Amino acid sequence: MRYFGNDIKLFVNNLVVSYTDQGSDDAPVIIFIHGFPLNKTMWNYQVEALMGRFRVIAYDIRGHGDSDAGNDNFTIDLFATDLIQFMDGLKIEKASLCGLSMGGYIALNAIEHYPERFDALVLSDTNCQPDSAEVKEKRMKAIHNILENGVSNYADESIKNLFAQESFSTHEDEIISVKEMICNTSEESLGCTLLALAARNGTCNKLSGIDVPVLILVGEEDKITPPEVSTLMHEQIKDSTMYVIPHAAHLSNIEQPEEYNEQLMRFFAKVYKIPEVSYTEVSNSIFIQMREKVMMLLSINSI
Ligand code: MLT
Repeated sequence: MRYFGNDIKLFVNNLVVSYTDQGSDDAPVIIFIHGFPLNKTMWNYQVEALMGRFRVIAYDIRGHGDSDAGNDNFTIDLFATDLIQFMDGLKIEKASLCGLSMGGYIALNAIEHYPERFDALVLSDTNCQPDSAEVKEKRMKAIHNILENGVSNYADESIKNLFAQESFSTHEDEIISVKEMICNTSEESLGCTLLALAARNGTCNKLSGIDVPVLILVGEEDKITPPEVSTLMHEQIKDSTMYVIPHAAHLSNIEQPEEYNEQLMRFFAKVYKIPEVSYTEVSNSIFIQMREKVMMLLSINSI
């Protein structure tokens, strides 16, 4: 039996995983994988926009959001195994993945080891290269700083790099909610995930073997995983399309949700051969449905 909602729990790989599952049973499945150190709610705009046409699932990676941390050492391999066991638990044989940054590292790892489980990938603001020595050192310093100065301080420092300069005046609510996501992650999970990120293997030499359609999205001002890195991946992946999102940095899906969703809609309509409906049309149709419901309630109340 399938459960619908925004905080469903499933026991996977010896821990409880929290996830959102929306959309109709027989629609193609898209699984969203969040970035570090955020959680499934970073995909709220995408879940809302796509659930009318797809079954959309967003889950919390272990140690993030409302999922347990479990007892194993965090690695990107383990996160990819969690994903496959999560799909098994939900009886999903095949799905598309949309992963942002760390979510993209997991998606690339998963398609390398389980290519038969995926229809398509969206690689958003991510990278196939492993950490340089300099980045590894920064991660060690970050762990030290978290233990020394606390998570809130770490959140303030991280946020400076996640958003484009203009987003600080145009997306204040989103910035507050991203800070909350970071502050709700435990010191232990932050430290263990930073170690997992630093230890991950590169996947650039596997890109030419990817055999499904891939959409590469990146914020024009992304400094963590800049557009040049996306271009490099685009050149290696046979069936790939790349789109640079203006007025956005690393969290392009939150900074420019309409543009981001439009690209997702267009891509998945092509992958699953369904008539293309633009994001604006979907928003309008949701608006019309809501207006009809309100009119109906008003007419019932006036009887
Ligand atoms: C993320 O957004 O997931 C992180 O920036 C990934 C990283 O630090 O490599």
